[in-house]
Amino acid sequence: MTNAAPKTYNIVLLPGDGVGPEVTRAARDVLAVIGDFYGHDFQFSEHLIGGAAIDETGEPLPEATRAACVASDAVLLGAVGGPKWDGGKRRPEEGLLAIRKAMGLFANLRPLQVSPVLAHRSPLKKEIVEGVDLIVFRELTGGVYFGEKTRTADRATDLCEYTVPEIERVTRAAFQTARQRRGKVTSVDKANVMETSRLWREVVTRIHAEEFPEIELEHALVDSMAMHLIRKPREYDVILTENMFGDILSDEISVLGGSIGLLPSASLGAGGPGLFEPIHGSAPDIAGQDLANPVGTILSAALLLRHSLKLEDEADSIEAAVAAVLAAGAMTADLGGALGTRAATEAVIDAIRAIHWAAAHRVQMHWA
Ligand code: NAD
Ligand code: IPM
Ligand code: MN
Repeated sequence: MTNAAPKTYNIVLLPGDGVGPEVTRAARDVLAVIGDFYGHDFQFSEHLIGGAAIDETGEPLPEATRAACVASDAVLLGAVGGPKWDGGKRRPEEGLLAIRKAMGLFANLRPLQVSPVLAHRSPLKKEIVEGVDLIVFRELTGGVYFGEKTRTADRATDLCEYTVPEIERVTRAAFQTARQRRGKVTSVDKANVMETSRLWREVVTRIHAEEFPEIELEHALVDSMAMHLIRKPREYDVILTENMFGDILSDEISVLGGSIGLLPSASLGAGGPGLFEPIHGSAPDIAGQDLANPVGTILSAALLLRHSLKLEDEADSIEAAVAAVLAAGAMTADLGGALGTRAATEAVIDAIRAIHWAAAHRVQMHWA
């Protein structure tokens, strides 16, 4: 133990709407315990986004929230949206898109590992999903999400646009990750129909040839990919794709692991703070009932520690605790369990304590 003052990290919390506040609270409680154990000073500040921000200020992303996020060490977000704001002048989702853009978060990483103890929770056959270990690299600040939109009474358009540099940067990030993993990238597009996809395929092919020739690259069309992901998900390592295809395929992939409530994500840019959030939405059907699975957000907090704060051991211990809790059968209702959000969070916190007790005990034995 050193007597140095603990390092301070400024973490912005954006609880948002629906189950957002419940799952954000869970991840915050877990981070606070990690801070105590490892001697870090995590300073949390909460800000408005989404529907909650519209209700308070009229804006889905108030300027104070944007400023706090860009000045932080990392941002943890719950979810935005809900029926309450349907048909309103401003949409909660605008706030999420605007903060991703403002922070320059062009790469959204969505990892999925199916553990042997959870394989039977998937509606798919155990022998298909067992051992799945993949990561989606979803481009996050381009494509149809950010193209010009037009609307008249009887006509609407959404422009899908990509530039070469936008494709290059997320492609490099995906290949670099493939190098640390099993060395395979599957790039997903719709090059038989879309011009943006033909450019995408061209750029990915060139970056591969010039910079990552040792990595295996395959191209897949998004429609058949949706089928292959259900038929043979173990074959995939890194899946690289544009914004909307990544959004859709990652929800599909979540079924392999048993519940969308399990999946975390990290949104990263060229430097600066990252934003971390579960892949699920505000789940209005279960909001405010202590029913939401907090694991996706707790694992997002682990990604926050690893990617933004560079606290690898701390991230590992959250992931080990979650794995231990799930292996012990302590689960929320979406996985067939009986625990509420708060009890599941307490189970993870107890597991972190147990892991630390065991580690301290081992050190003592070693010294003796
Ligand atoms: P959703 O992900 O909110 O819910 C889909 C289904 O999954 C629901 O049945 C829900 O109960 C269940 N579910 C989701 N998270 C869960 C969890 N943690 N534990 C247990 N079950 C969970 O998707 P939706 O219903 O299509 O969208 C609802 C709202 O959320 C919409 O307004 C949408 O725009 C928004 N949304 C926000 C985000 C985000 O903030 N990142 C992501 C997706 C959707
Ligand atoms: C997600 C969500 C968002 C998206 C919505 C809420 C804007 O579905 O984070 O996956 O489409 O990116
Ligand atoms: Mn989505």
